[in-house]
Amino acid sequence: MNKRNALRDLHSKWLIDSTCTLKKTATQGVPGDGTPYADIVFIGEAPGKKEDELGIPFVGAAGKFLDEMLADIHLKRNDVYITNIVKYRPPDNRDPLEKEKQECNQWLIDELNLIQPTLIITLGRHAMNNFFPDEKISNTHGTLLNKKIPGIPTKNFYILYHPAAALYNGSLRDILIKDFKKIPKLLKKLRAK
Ligand code: URA
Repeated sequence: MNKRNALRDLHSKWLIDSTCTLKKTATQGVPGDGTPYADIVFIGEAPGKKEDELGIPFVGAAGKFLDEMLADIHLKRNDVYITNIVKYRPPDNRDPLEKEKQECNQWLIDELNLIQPTLIITLGRHAMNNFFPDEKISNTHGTLLNKKIPGIPTKNFYILYHPAAALYNGSLRDILIKDFKKIPKLLKKLRAK
């Protein structure tokens, strides 16, 4: 089976099997989106209103900003893979609870193992803290963190602020744009290893 079909089957299975509590309140599940052949996987926090409506991650204002930053480094959504820690919208966009993150964790691990990316890019503190619980994003944004985590197929994590947090905060926005522009060089270096 090719990777595209395998990814489609993986999402179909989890959309049925997921026991995430948020399934009761969300409109639908929001699986990851993009190419299963991606070198880069972006991981956000949880779907928002628009994502919940359409069933696709990062399609609201934050997603538009993400698309613009991708275009700046000559990438399109379909050149990468974009997903979330939590696959169902928390009511009123509240922060996902630890339990809800745990309930969606195996779905994320399955996506990562199918794709086998060179680099994981975390968007925001929730995604970063999922892999690095003790780090502070103000210290780690724009840096590559290395960690071998059981079950995760890469040890390379690049940390970014969340596009939604940066959207209405000028200084965070400038920092995120600057950090984002470092991605091509970083990826080239990792690929050469
Ligand atoms: N914010 C996220 O973290 N994920 C989305 O899919 C949309 C907004």
